Amino acid sequence: TRLLRPLQDLAGLRVVVSAGPTREYLDPVRFISNPSSGKMGFAVAEAARDRGAQVTLVSGPVTLPDPHGLSTVHIGSALELRDAVLEAAQQADLVIMTAAVADYRAAQPSGEKQAKVAGEVSIQLTPNPDILAELGQHKGGRVLVGFAMETHAGVERAAAKAQRKNADFILLNYPTQEGTAFGGDDNQVTLVRPDGGHEAWPRLSKREVAERLLTEALRVHAERHP
Ligand code: CTP
Ligand code: CA
Repeated sequence: TRLLRPLQDLAGLRVVVSAGPTREYLDPVRFISNPSSGKMGFAVAEAARDRGAQVTLVSGPVTLPDPHGLSTVHIGSALELRDAVLEAAQQADLVIMTAAVADYRAAQPSGEKQAKVAGEVSIQLTPNPDILAELGQHKGGRVLVGFAMETHAGVERAAAKAQRKNADFILLNYPTQEGTAFGGDDNQVTLVRPDGGHEAWPRLSKREVAERLLTEALRVHAERHP
């Protein structure tokens, strides 16, 4: 059962959470995106709020209503996400990147709707900035947490990402588990550290994954600020 007033162990801390997909427009009516529902990030933001943190939620387009009691910033593209997260992160103690950031955007988005042409077409894409890696380069005393979905060699790939991006840990999941990951209410994740150390958590509600994530992030924060 949930306590009426949960433990306020994040009181005085500022938490930034990114959530949902990004949209990379090719022309005014078409975009590249992904099926991220935003549920995981919203769960982290709400759990942090309930534990007393001051929370900024930076969200891509999702169908979830803005949570009460925290500040929600709406963004579309990865470049907009970057601006909003880097701005909010300046004052933050914990930054949790659950957003499913598109790796590429159109190299030359068209201002006009592109008409159909006969035969094949190709689209030139250009890489988006890696926001978590940028945060990692100017980390300060902040705790940085990422998410990764992998289809194979998950622990090794997630550890390499945590190392490369200077994240404190990454929560790894797989797209294949029913009821979890994209759109589901549950998640089954493995916590992976940069050194490859890892622990698999059981299948839990996204809210419960969020609670454990925050407890671990707070532990890292306390270690860094004794
Ligand atoms: N991420 C980010 N900016 C990007 C891409 C990813 O901040 N341009 C963050 C995600 O929010 C996530 C973490 O980095 O927390 C890992 O995302 P993932 O897509 O697994 O990492 P990539 O480096 O893009 O690797 P991959 O080639 O596997 O897509
Ligand atoms: Ca990616």
